[in-house]
Amino acid sequence: MSEGTPRIFALFGNPVGHSLSPLMHNAAYRDMKINALYVAFCVSNLEEAIKGIRGMNISGVSVSVPFKSEVLKYLDTMDESVRRIGAANTIVNNGGRLEGYNTDWIGFVRDLKEFMPVRAKTFAILGAGGAARAVIFSILADGGNIVVLNRTSKNGQELAREFGCPFCPLSDIGKLNADCLVNTTSVGMAPNIGVSPLEPRDLRNFPRVVDIIYNPMKTRLLKDAQKAECHIRSGMGMFIYQGAEQIRLWTGMEPPLSSMKRVVQERLKEYERDRPDSKT
Ligand code: ATR
Repeated sequence: MSEGTPRIFALFGNPVGHSLSPLMHNAAYRDMKINALYVAFCVSNLEEAIKGIRGMNISGVSVSVPFKSEVLKYLDTMDESVRRIGAANTIVNNGGRLEGYNTDWIGFVRDLKEFMPVRAKTFAILGAGGAARAVIFSILADGGNIVVLNRTSKNGQELAREFGCPFCPLSDIGKLNADCLVNTTSVGMAPNIGVSPLEPRDLRNFPRVVDIIYNPMKTRLLKDAQKAECHIRSGMGMFIYQGAEQIRLWTGMEPPLSSMKRVVQERLKEYERDRPDSKT
């Protein structure tokens, strides 16, 4: 690469307009005094976009919704977590060889351990999509127990069987005792902030509730959980830590966590202020 040209990092997703990754990554590179630029691409054709990684010497890519599973077939190598989760959120371009990693699970468990102990605790996981797979993988890796909850029993049962965990139908949530409930569905994510995947009465049995959504910082689910006197945690920490791990993979350097957190938190607070119903 020619002298003085910034290293390019990219986000591949669709849509990407509301992503805070460019803000967070560019703040980190400024802080680290690295000549690098992080750009979001709203990808319409993943195969063509992947060719662009090599063609344009893009050093690393964050892979977002809806491409995290589809991207696997374009990778030259992938680590064990990518195989088990069935999704990659990070590509390292190693001289044209595309290496796939998943930093979502690392980000999730790192933040979760700041919130509560994981080993031997029981986590009720709501949802059976790709995000649920990353969350389950990370909790099992740290010695926690899982119960899968899902609206469509068939999807939940399949996921539970694959990871060797029990499944609980959503209709039986009132009978379930777990140390923590984790929402992995996108219900309640901006712009649809008024909705929750659960009824407030469903939350009473859980001392802790985690939502992996970070925008809004407090989803309807977390507001209901707070009213039910549960301890709550948003997805902001997970988001920051998954990005930090990408920076480590791409640069080999320690990411500036406090600057990353500051810019993300400031932007989320701005969004909050701009919402007409911010008091609810
Ligand atoms: P991702 O891969 O990003 O996690 P996904 O594959 O679309 O997203 O998975 C979404 C999960 O959220 C699914 O488990 C879905 O439940 P179903 O299996 O019943 O479809 C769950 N989900 C989506 N909308 C929901 C809602 N309104 N209430 C409860 N669960 C919902």
